[in-house]
Amino acid sequence: MSVVLITGCSSGFGAAAARAFGRNGDTVYASMRTLRKAGDLQALARSESLDIRPLELDVTQPASFSALLERIVKESGRIDVLVNNAGVLRAGAFEDLDEAALREVMETNFFAPFLLARAVLPHMRRQRGGYIIMISSLSGIAGLPGDVAYTASKFAVEGATEALRHEIDRWNIKLALVQAGLYATGIFASSMPGQELLPDSYPAGSPYRGFVEHRQRELRKRLPQAFSPDIIGNLLVRISKSDGAQLRWPADDISKKVLATMWAQDDAARDQFLRGVSGTPWWSAGGEPPADSG
Ligand SMILES: NC(=O)c1ccc[n+]([C@@H]2O[C@H](COP(=O)([O-])OP(=O)(O)OC[C@H]3O[C@@H](n4cnc5c(N)ncnc54)[C@H](OP(=O)(O)O)[C@@H]3O)[C@@H](O)[C@H]2O)c1
Repeated sequence: MSVVLITGCSSGFGAAAARAFGRNGDTVYASMRTLRKAGDLQALARSESLDIRPLELDVTQPASFSALLERIVKESGRIDVLVNNAGVLRAGAFEDLDEAALREVMETNFFAPFLLARAVLPHMRRQRGGYIIMISSLSGIAGLPGDVAYTASKFAVEGATEALRHEIDRWNIKLALVQAGLYATGIFASSMPGQELLPDSYPAGSPYRGFVEHRQRELRKRLPQAFSPDIIGNLLVRISKSDGAQLRWPADDISKKVLATMWAQDDAARDQFLRGVSGTPWWSAGGEPPADSG
């Protein structure tokens, strides 16, 4: 059975991953920013006798990584799987996102997983094997308007993972990227609080406001059809047992379609596809939101 470290286990994919690896019989270090959110996983571990061990980790604090990893290796002897899952989304037009938001997204979604991977690699090299799984996104292969910061972070994850892959395969260390469509998790709450389409802090006089509200409205309409995060949890267990030949793992039919479309087409076809997906050609044309978008 494997020793697994997962980031961002307080909700969504991270919690689902902790459940799935736990039920697979693995030793799961379920890290999260604050242990105050560990209650559900602790209760599950007790009721199903799973080896899930919550621990505190803010992924934007790389100075804490090596002590945490030493602790795991001392306790369990090794680290077989790292799931880099923690992430944030800051939706909004590029001009409206302040520098702090741009940096927060890159710190959390890009620098953190790679600095943590770098801290884990010496352990995996020593044990001559391991699996590092990056939770990417469809935003890692397709850029949609209103998502500049998030897209930048996930493209960076995709490119860096692809580049890193053959630096480390000689030690039997495998890498995987997971692309997911729309899943029912907490990630949309920060940009769409309660009944509001946008947080109070969103610039009131922004020339992009109609555009961003339209995108948020469309997202809200699609959320009831969002997939269950358990699909991702189960997929991660499957990936951890695979031979490493496959780098990209689209998690659902939508992800498979986007991946196939984005990579099988020339730029004009890709652009046409993206405009269709974003539903915003009216914006580029200088028009108003379609009447039925309310
Ligand atoms: N949901 C989707 O449709 C979807 C699709 C594609 C990819 N993804 C990716 O899936 C991953 C997980 O997101 P999710 O959808 O499961 O959303 P979520 O429910 O909001 O989970 C995000 C997790 O990341 C944690 N996190 C954020 N900043 C952190 C930090 N500095 N240190 C430690 N943990 C931190 C959050 O912790 P707190 O509770 O402390 O905030 C939370 O546990 C993200 O990388 C996201 O980009 C999601």
